[in-house]
Amino acid sequence: MKAYKFEAFTNVIEKNIREGIFKPGHKLPSVRDLKEQYQTSISTIQHGYEYLVARGLVESVPKSGYYVSNRPDLSQSPAKVKHRPIARDAIFKHHLGLTTSQKAGHQFSEFNVAAPGDLLVPQKLLLRTMQQAIREQGAALLRYYPSNGAVALKEQIIRKAAAHQTIIHPDELLITDGALQALYIGLSAVCSAGDVVAVESPCVFSILEVIRVLHLKVIEVPVDPYAGFDVDFLRKACRNNAVKAVIVTPNFHNPTGILLSDEQKQALLAVAQQYNVAILENDIYGDLNFHGLRPSTIKRFDESGLVMTYASYAKTLAPGLRVGWLATGKFMPRAEQIKFALGSTVSPIYQETVKRLLAGSSYDRHVRSFRMQLAKNAHLAVNLLSAHFPAKTFILPPAGGYNIWVKMPADIDMAHFYDQCEQIGVRFTPGYTFSFSGDFDKHFRLVYADKFSSKRIAAIRQAGQRAR
Ligand SMILES: Cc1ncc(COP(=O)(O)O)c(C=O)c1O
Repeated sequence: MKAYKFEAFTNVIEKNIREGIFKPGHKLPSVRDLKEQYQTSISTIQHGYEYLVARGLVESVPKSGYYVSNRPDLSQSPAKVKHRPIARDAIFKHHLGLTTSQKAGHQFSEFNVAAPGDLLVPQKLLLRTMQQAIREQGAALLRYYPSNGAVALKEQIIRKAAAHQTIIHPDELLITDGALQALYIGLSAVCSAGDVVAVESPCVFSILEVIRVLHLKVIEVPVDPYAGFDVDFLRKACRNNAVKAVIVTPNFHNPTGILLSDEQKQALLAVAQQYNVAILENDIYGDLNFHGLRPSTIKRFDESGLVMTYASYAKTLAPGLRVGWLATGKFMPRAEQIKFALGSTVSPIYQETVKRLLAGSSYDRHVRSFRMQLAKNAHLAVNLLSAHFPAKTFILPPAGGYNIWVKMPADIDMAHFYDQCEQIGVRFTPGYTFSFSGDFDKHFRLVYADKFSSKRIAAIRQAGQRAR
């Protein structure tokens, strides 16, 4: 059958309507624009639109133009749309769903996403600071910034680290798009596909995913609920394998909330130095201590340059502010090339916003009250779990950070438990997302970084009752 000239554009419009890209009410391109785009006559375009109107897909609004019908008639073919199935990694997709927010359009009480709840993000402070930056710096924010990051922001990060005795040299500091990018850069700087890295077990899914994407082999080092990271296990692993890097979160580990002592940090460093293994030290929760002083870092004790410390403001300010950093130690030459190749500069507006918050007293003030809120939440959540979950449930009270690690009694059917949680509208992060080996199937993580409304309190109570 001979094709009409107008099908060149009507087929495109029809396909977009059928695939839901042009939704009901969507304004369609003007006759004049289509005439230019398709290098054809006005009458061809008008004929095409009349054809779509006749088929119930499009409506014409006098003096305004053409719109997708409110109820487009999709019953008639021609143009049968072939949906090409897109294969996705099933485990990645499943785990991503379990650890990211499903907020739009549902009534769930989410305890599964390690991000500050909307009410705990200092929205006014952030928006006001962004506006100030825009007002004062204007078009300068639209230029490329230095690939390694704004000098003034780096000065602030260095100043703050020095307060807990972590010395970072300006020439070893990179500003990154969040902590995960910092980890990606750090690991890529010291490892190639097939190399072996050591990682905590349990370990948060996002870190495991970076390891997987880089095609690294993994040794999982146990994190004991009381003693923390097993340094002796790491020593043996390094003795018997060519371990290239170890990834640790010594301050308020996710998901256990454990804080390593300075002695443990030094012992871990000694093993790394003995076997020439790089340390990727995640300090993303370091500012969120509940008691005592802000803990220091492994980097504080390092003179070899093997330690790469990284963090971001995703947990302390807001996850949408994509500002993180990586102190590269001796690996800067390779790391800065990788950073550049990943897209060079982090958005200047975000960098300037964080710089302003760090330079004044705003960041410290916010973190002080946020930490207190988190400590209260953690206390409340531990009490709720103790009161309402089965008697033999093991609950690990965190020393800081966002997370409580819970182990259910051996006789609990966890698939049934998650099913019940789904039914009553509660979400926790299943333990099996925290290792490659599928361990921790009796565990789950509860994130308490949101306000505890009466609804959320009731949700935990009910989940516990369903588990009994
Ligand atoms: C331990 C840990 N590292 C890294 C990240 C990701 O941080 P960012 O959003 O800054 O990339 C998270 C958050 O999920 C985390 O818990």
